[in-house]
Amino acid sequence: MQYLSMSIQVKQINKSYGDTQVLHDISFNCHNGETLVLLGPSGAGKSSLLRVLNLLETADNGQLDIAEYSFDFDQKIEESDERQLRRKVGMVFQQYNLWPHMTVMQNLIEAPTKVNGLSKEEAKDLALEVLKTLKLEDKANTWPMQLSGGQQQRVAIARALMMKPDVLLFDEPTAALDPEITNQVVEIIKELSSTGITQIVVTHEVDFAKKIASHVLYLEQGRIVEHGTNNAFTHPQTTQFADYLKH
Ligand SMILES: Nc1ncnc2c1ncn2[C@@H]1O[C@H](COP(=O)(O)OP(=O)(O)O)[C@@H](O)[C@H]1O
Ligand SMILES: [Mg+2]
Repeated sequence: MQYLSMSIQVKQINKSYGDTQVLHDISFNCHNGETLVLLGPSGAGKSSLLRVLNLLETADNGQLDIAEYSFDFDQKIEESDERQLRRKVGMVFQQYNLWPHMTVMQNLIEAPTKVNGLSKEEAKDLALEVLKTLKLEDKANTWPMQLSGGQQQRVAIARALMMKPDVLLFDEPTAALDPEITNQVVEIIKELSSTGITQIVVTHEVDFAKKIASHVLYLEQGRIVEHGTNNAFTHPQTTQFADYLKH
């Protein structure tokens, strides 16, 4: 029963924008509880691949198994499937995308009450729990604009966690943060990893990647060049990945 321990299976995914193919024959597996980093230079296709994983983009063909859902991109994907999937697969963006006219607490309880049918009381209890995990318990009644960038990013992570996702996707979560704050995000990702959640993190920063990755997928020009464990950072198997690690 190999499937049960497999959180994500991607099979032969291709994706083009117009005439430009940005993902070429992408296949990989990711086990439950892994922190898989998608690493590579700008334009490698990392964000495109990440967005396919929660159906923000549809691939042209190929298959995706994720969080116990299966999609075949040769068939039409229904909007109801997308909504279902996004309850189990959360996403944290580089731009935090918090609702500015809502307090931290309101940001957190919006989706669980509207989408998951939690009562306001249940959602608030859960929010306080999640905020505590992220060391934000004193920020519940604060407006997003009153928070630092690092705090806003933590609220964005908290908001994604409110849905109790099986998989959490991050797109360059530290790109707008200074190094000290980046380390807070490193600690959060490590702590989440110990809870068994599967995390996929897009970045172009080697140091950040090395600190969080249980596994790494190195991409160039829409192709997987190397797929290894954290060990690959010290023992890369391809010259391309070795070169990337040097600068
Ligand atoms: N919505 C889009 N329309 C057209 N081209 C796009 C779109 N999104 C990304 N691309 C192109 O796809 C390629 C891969 O982009 P992206 O996935 O954002 O790479 P990365 O995240 O690794 O920097 C780039 O050449 C980019 O210009
Ligand atoms: Mg990107």
